[in-house]
Amino acid sequence: TQPLRIAPSILSADFAHLGQEVRAIDDAGADYIHIDVMDGHFVPNITIGPAVVKALRPHTKKPFDVHLMIAPVDPYLEAFAEAGADILTVHPEAGPHLHRSLQSIKALGKRAGVSLNPATPISAIEHVMDLVDLVLVMTVNPGFGGQSFLESQLGKIEQLRKMIDATGRPIDLEVDGGITAETAPLARSAGATVLVAGTASFKGGAAAYATNIAALRGKE
Ligand code: DX5
Ligand code: ZN
Repeated sequence: TQPLRIAPSILSADFAHLGQEVRAIDDAGADYIHIDVMDGHFVPNITIGPAVVKALRPHTKKPFDVHLMIAPVDPYLEAFAEAGADILTVHPEAGPHLHRSLQSIKALGKRAGVSLNPATPISAIEHVMDLVDLVLVMTVNPGFGGQSFLESQLGKIEQLRKMIDATGRPIDLEVDGGITAETAPLARSAGATVLVAGTASFKGGAAAYATNIAALRGKE
């Protein structure tokens, strides 16, 4: 099994002090910095654009795991790549040609991710398994932090684990939404290799971040 990685979502950080927050969560042991980009159209919330990603880039060397919840997504891939994203993840519903979006991400020299909403079946991404570096399973409806983990998605994670193993490629299997110290083991046993956590990473202020991340890692 691949090592478990923790990807704190800065959606739950203090937006008035984002640079400081990113440095603190890096020091606390974050593996990736998860950045939730929302447009008030694909999802009912508006968050971060390329200018903010660029401003945060000097604050950490950890990979920027940029989760794009925007439609159309294609016109913005280059801007996020240039701003310093390492992984660009798109939803199949965010453009007319998923395969082309992923090809564009690879052409920009970035790792390509694809994300499944709770209602989106695995069949939506079967045709791009040869192209992706990361599959992100949403365990809440995207749009907001602090929602409850949807156990209905565990079967999907298990099935994707098998599909990824069958490729023989080191594709990350990332789970996002409602991850806590209690739900993390469920996602991990189902086969997840990367856990996104917003609320559970940033609760209690900077002094608690290392403890929070250790709790998400569990005994591994
Ligand atoms: C939801 C975002 C998540 C969110 C997770 O649309 O994609 O990354 O920040 O927040 P928690 O961990 O609080 O559920
Ligand atoms: Zn996310």
